[in-house]
Amino acid sequence: MRLAKRFKLASHFFSSLRKRGVRRTMWITCHELYYDATFGVKTGIVIPAGELDGDPEALHHANDCFPSSYLVLKEALSHDQVDLRDAVFVDFGCGLGRALLFASQLPLRRLIGVELSPTLCAMARHNMTDFYHRRNKTVPEWSVINADVRAFDIPDDAAIFYFFNPFDALVLDTVLKRILASVARAPRRCAIVYANPVHGGVIAARTQFKLQIKAPDYVIYRLGA
Ligand SMILES: C[S@@+](CC[C@H](N)C(=O)[O-])C[C@H]1O[C@@H](n2cnc3c(N)ncnc32)[C@H](O)[C@@H]1O
Repeated sequence: MRLAKRFKLASHFFSSLRKRGVRRTMWITCHELYYDATFGVKTGIVIPAGELDGDPEALHHANDCFPSSYLVLKEALSHDQVDLRDAVFVDFGCGLGRALLFASQLPLRRLIGVELSPTLCAMARHNMTDFYHRRNKTVPEWSVINADVRAFDIPDDAAIFYFFNPFDALVLDTVLKRILASVARAPRRCAIVYANPVHGGVIAARTQFKLQIKAPDYVIYRLGA
């Protein structure tokens, strides 16, 4: 791993110590080690937005590619928080596919990752394929789509929308409008899971979204019936 990337991970570790304290940071680290070993693929990599390939205009609105914390995924995507059974899950800005890998272990029907960077799409596909090939496990239905989320047609059966602070408020708002349009076409109950919710105010500003959980590292909003 290049020195700058190691430095970025180390600085995130120390800022987590300051923000979350020693106990939770260590618990997060234990989950990183456990799930990295479980999946056997390296997704704990930080790639600055300036180094990503893809449409430069969209990258201008993008945040660095930083992986979700496995602990936060485990907490946020648990049965008592979100109705997972048979649901279609979308990760907006799927990066190296960490959230997809984690979600693929849950009783979901289909998983979709949308990612701007063609290189990251290829890496996410490789990570999913590699894990399921090595493990000889039943492969869930999944796809990684190379697209700008602003142009991604929300499937009318998708019900769990995951964001790990992938982009700015403008892009988030455009995606929210597309989710609302999809739910207007095909009324259903949905959950918006937003980890590191820097632009949470954009969701809160739309009255259709009802706050269900506000945890230190994520928020969950409900939409629909
Ligand atoms: C913080 S990473 C999230 C990684 C992954 N979701 C996870 O949980 O590990 C954000 C990703 O969003 C992608 N991204 C940013 N803007 C995007 C856009 N407009 N359309 C699609 N992907 C985008 C970036 O390329 C980056 O890989």
